[in-house]
Amino acid sequence: MISELININEIDNSFINKDYLENEFNNNPYAKVLLLKEDNKVIGYIYYSDIYERVEINQFEIDKNYRNKGNGNLLLQAMINKVHKDITLEVREDNTYAIKVYEKNGFIKTATRKGYYNGVDGILMERKDSSK
Ligand SMILES: CC(C)(COP(=O)(O)OP(=O)(O)OC[C@H]1O[C@@H](n2cnc3c(N)ncnc32)[C@H](O)[C@@H]1OP(=O)(O)O)[C@@H](O)C(=O)NCCC(=O)NCCS
Repeated sequence: MISELININEIDNSFINKDYLENEFNNNPYAKVLLLKEDNKVIGYIYYSDIYERVEINQFEIDKNYRNKGNGNLLLQAMINKVHKDITLEVREDNTYAIKVYEKNGFIKTATRKGYYNGVDGILMERKDSSK
């Protein structure tokens, strides 16, 4: 089940940095979080900023025990279908699984930030909203 985070106390999982998310949620007026739950337990989340005409993905994570089962794909698709806007993000060049799920959902690589992550390149990706 996918739902929007309303109350930070819905998050009780150790894989999520709740303090960081709570701080963002309280201080970033554009912050939105979508949760993926299974049997009422949060197994994944996507934290993004919905800034007027565009969206930036800040964090996207599935609990280790629930990866490689299509959950990331499901959550990303739900977010895309919810926002109907152009979406940008940055990902480490060596994060092949994340890049795979982004590319599968229409994101393309637009630029490289050389050595951005302690020597590993950062890849900027973008997905244009086709519903406009
Ligand atoms: C990126 C992430 C959210 C993807 O979640 P997920 O639930 O594993 O995603 P999916 O199951 O939908 O898999 C996406 C693709 O990667 C592949 N994949 C994922 N894990 C894999 C593994 N361990 N071995 C081989 N392929 C794998 C899947 O097969 C799938 O490709 P396919 O559609 O061709 O089958 C998850 O790996 C994660 O939480 N990573 C750590 C946090 C992170 O890096 N976030 C992204 C920051 S930009």
